[in-house]
Amino acid sequence: KVMDELAQRVDGLTIAGIAQTYPNAHPEINPLDLYRAHLSDVLSKISGVDTSIIYPVVMWTQSLDKGDFVVAVPALRIKGTKPDVLAQEWAEKFPKDDPLFKEPVLSGHFMSFFIKGEPLVQSIIPMVRQAEKDYGKNPFTGLHDPTDPSSDKKRIIVEFSSPNVAKPFHAGHLRSTIIGSFIANLYEASGWDVVRMNCQFESDYGNNEAKELQMLIMGPDLGDWGKQYGLLALAYQRNGDEEALQKNPIDHLFKLYVQINAEMSAEKEVIEAQKKEGKDVSVLEANSLDEQARQYFKRMTDRDEEVLAQWKRFRDLSIARYKETYSRLNIHFDEFSGESQVAEEFMAKIADEMKAKNVSREDNGAVLVDFTQHLPGKAGKRLGTTVLRKRDGTALYLTRDVCELLGRHKKYNFDHMIYVVASQQDLHLQQLFQIIELLGYEDIAKKCQHINFGMVLGMSTRKGTVKFLDDILKDCADHMHETMRKNNEKYAQIEDPVATADILGISSVMVQDMSGKRINNYTFNMDAMTSFEGDTGPYLQYAHARLCSIRRRVELSDADLNSANFSLLKEEHAINIARMLSQWPDVLQNTLKTLEPATVLTYLFKMTHVISSSYDHLKVVGSEAELMKARMALYDAARTTLANGMRILGLTPLESR
Ligand code: ARG
Repeated sequence: KVMDELAQRVDGLTIAGIAQTYPNAHPEINPLDLYRAHLSDVLSKISGVDTSIIYPVVMWTQSLDKGDFVVAVPALRIKGTKPDVLAQEWAEKFPKDDPLFKEPVLSGHFMSFFIKGEPLVQSIIPMVRQAEKDYGKNPFTGLHDPTDPSSDKKRIIVEFSSPNVAKPFHAGHLRSTIIGSFIANLYEASGWDVVRMNCQFESDYGNNEAKELQMLIMGPDLGDWGKQYGLLALAYQRNGDEEALQKNPIDHLFKLYVQINAEMSAEKEVIEAQKKEGKDVSVLEANSLDEQARQYFKRMTDRDEEVLAQWKRFRDLSIARYKETYSRLNIHFDEFSGESQVAEEFMAKIADEMKAKNVSREDNGAVLVDFTQHLPGKAGKRLGTTVLRKRDGTALYLTRDVCELLGRHKKYNFDHMIYVVASQQDLHLQQLFQIIELLGYEDIAKKCQHINFGMVLGMSTRKGTVKFLDDILKDCADHMHETMRKNNEKYAQIEDPVATADILGISSVMVQDMSGKRINNYTFNMDAMTSFEGDTGPYLQYAHARLCSIRRRVELSDADLNSANFSLLKEEHAINIARMLSQWPDVLQNTLKTLEPATVLTYLFKMTHVISSSYDHLKVVGSEAELMKARMALYDAARTTLANGMRILGLTPLESR
């Protein structure tokens, strides 16, 4: 309705009319769509170029001082006249009294357009107030037919976090958790039906530290990971403690696991030494932990009920524990998928299919895929050759993923699936998608996407190098608490410092992680990320809390704000805040293309900078009553938008300091 009023300022412009000419425009939820449509109409009239060519090249600017939109005249591909001459000509023809735009500003062949303040503040504030938590969301993008609101939602699986049962949650998992939850939120806000999945397939990938540790405890030739489950169960049989398991399953299992691995290495050394001396080691070998673990795992693959029940117990306890931690991060999963979910029969079936379709071949009892046979040149070389099944019949990581992918498609019939996994596994996922394609399921392969990310360097907790998610969060919260204590006065005002430190700590880690491009490595820096200065999580939280506290101090009701006279907001600072607010739906939509949390974060920091520089100019407390209402309504709309952005990122906006 507010947008109807805005449209009415232009002769002949209606929301319905815009929808007809510009099928992707949704002015009812995105104010800039209305501005873009109107600008395209005007420019089309002036230039004779069709609106369908103009609309897509109406671009954003880097900062408010460069305008709200910019059009590069060469992008319209008009032959004959020089672009800067054309720009000049069109600027002269641009209506002096356009209801929505000021006169264009030229720089060479670039035309910059500035939105007029008064109509914008009149519409954007009520719009944000009405939409509240939904401001910025675009329910249309996720529809099978975006132009038909009654059509079905598209379904996406976002697989993320995915730690391994009874193993440390390392930096790679932390990033996957943060980025994946963001992507899931983003798709949900865009109207998709989102399935959040946590996959516990074990890989031999990890960050360097975790890998080193694994090497250290197991020796470099790891072989198949499946056997490690056998080893774990064996360790529990020998030294397990039911009480400790119930209390903290991940911690307990991990300790047992490290211990038995050490024992196994010692045992191996003895065997090696005896071998060197020429002694017969066959009895030793037959009774070794290694062999017992192998046999135990064999029982698992043979689906021995007793062993499977034990395995399920470990898994369930670990998952329950992980769920507690995830809920601290506002994350829930719809499904935990893992080893036991992929049945051996299904794997056998797929194995036959691969053989029948000549995707795989046998070599000495093992099953291989040689990509160089299937793909010419570089593409094949890059993917190399990979083992799917070892000679002893155990299936490997990749095989499980092939089956799991096809299984998921059958179960969910997804339109898209995203794997949020570290870039160390680039090759693994490329091989996976390629195998699906070679099997003849190109349509399914096309729906799959790997979202990768770089490493976290220098991450260690006070406890040492082994990290569980809980430890990481606890460490950050403690550090945060120390930082907060440094300011006695403020600290005294905080109601629940421990809970606040906890949320701020989580925000610190997340914002640091999301500040750069996903693919970049970054160095974990506890001091920098917990600082209230610079573009940090605590700074963002502070900016939000400050807006909340102004609202508390003035004690204006919602009705007061709704009835405020927005035309009182004439200052440049006020208009700039309104211009920033109007960008949010566009930013969110653009984020769906970049899938970079930094797209949202950069915007939020820009906005907080505009807001904080306005406090001295737009005082609320102490202003005349009507002006106070109008300014408060503006700040309140800013708070809503900031909070909405933070929630997409997975942050919990704090109300008080
Ligand atoms: N759990 C694995 C790891 O820790 C990551 C699983 C990734 N997902 C997959 N479908 N392969 O490395």
